[in-house]
Amino acid sequence: MAMSKCVFICLSFGLVLGSESYPISNTEPADLVNATPAPQDQCMPTNASMPIECPAHVGPPCPYCYTNYESDYTTGSNLNFTDTELATIELHMSRWIEYWQHRYPPTLVEPSGDYSVFTGLAGRAQLFLRVYLYTNNDTYLQLSKQYITTALQTLPQKQEYSSYFYGHVGVWTVASMISYLYNDSDGVMTYWKNIQNTFAEVNTAIETKEYNSTPFDLSVDALDQGLSGLLYTGMLLNEWFAEQVIDPNVLKNITYFIISSGVATGQALGHDWLMYQTPNVPGCYDWGM
Ligand SMILES: *[C@@H]1O[C@H](CO)[C@@H](O)[C@H](O)[C@H]1NC(C)=O
Ligand SMILES: *[C@@H]1O[C@H](CO)[C@@H](O)[C@H](O)[C@H]1NC(C)=O
Ligand SMILES: *[C@@H]1O[C@H](CO)[C@@H](O)[C@H](O)[C@H]1NC(C)=O
Ligand SMILES: *[C@@H]1O[C@H](CO)[C@@H](O)[C@H](O)[C@H]1NC(C)=O
Ligand SMILES: *[C@@H]1O[C@H](CO)[C@@H](O)[C@H](O)[C@H]1NC(C)=O
Repeated sequence: MAMSKCVFICLSFGLVLGSESYPISNTEPADLVNATPAPQDQCMPTNASMPIECPAHVGPPCPYCYTNYESDYTTGSNLNFTDTELATIELHMSRWIEYWQHRYPPTLVEPSGDYSVFTGLAGRAQLFLRVYLYTNNDTYLQLSKQYITTALQTLPQKQEYSSYFYGHVGVWTVASMISYLYNDSDGVMTYWKNIQNTFAEVNTAIETKEYNSTPFDLSVDALDQGLSGLLYTGMLLNEWFAEQVIDPNVLKNITYFIISSGVATGQALGHDWLMYQTPNVPGCYDWGM
């Protein structure tokens, strides 16, 4: 978990991977998952020069890091990539594709049982789905299917989060896309139905004000864990499949509920703007969100 979070953070800050090729280890994936790099070898999103120490100290599972030597943007800078830059991006991309397949193969369930899009199996399925859509190479669609199959097998009976990133709905969304690409319309219908039922439960809870009638904490609005992440699921499905998988009026109702919650929190704190508490930092509020 810590490992995949670090990798995620490194990736999102674009600090990934530097010098020459790092061999993929033969160590069992489970050991790699449990291993934590030495502090000086962990990716530091605020300090791009740090990770360069990594290969010297630990080797695998040292996270790949990249120091960006490009000059800062100034008005009028040429934003086009050169052929050399494109080749570098391609090289790093192929290393990451290798990394995930070997370090976190589709059969591997982490000790945390993480099935999520955000940090777990469904995220790897989505990653390879996107690589497939970009390359049209069937190998990646097959890998994507293997990851989502394990994710589906790992799903607990009870839903934990309403959102795309952490919840069952995210796993079902990715599963429906992969089923669609496999021409498996029964699969598509099954996963849509699960998601539609989840939306219906939340919509009913909102309409009847019986907020405890769903497995979710409906006071959590955040995109990663809460209701705006459910909303994201509906918008993504409707756009990806270009049809109304989720009733727009249900999306509208959930949107109003999220807005009302932000208004109420703002008012309670004496403000006339929307406020949302950050789930991970109690007492910390985001404006608007
Ligand atoms: C980044 O890390 C290096 C190596 O530890 C250190 O010398 C440097 O001061 C750090 N820079 C920042 C901006 O923290
Ligand atoms: C960047 O690429 C675009 C599309 O190929 C091209 O039209 C444009 O002239 C390029 N700009 C520069 C500054 O090279
Ligand atoms: C598809 O991807 C696999 C795995 O990276 C690779 O071995 C194979 O050569 C690729 N196929 C094509 C046609 O590019
Ligand atoms: C799905 O059907 C299309 C159109 O018949 C076909 O080109 C494609 O190969 C099929 N996909 C799979 C994964 O079988
Ligand atoms: C949206 O909420 C309103 C008010 O609670 C309700 O009347 C309406 O049926 C809901 N729309 C849908 C599509 O469920």
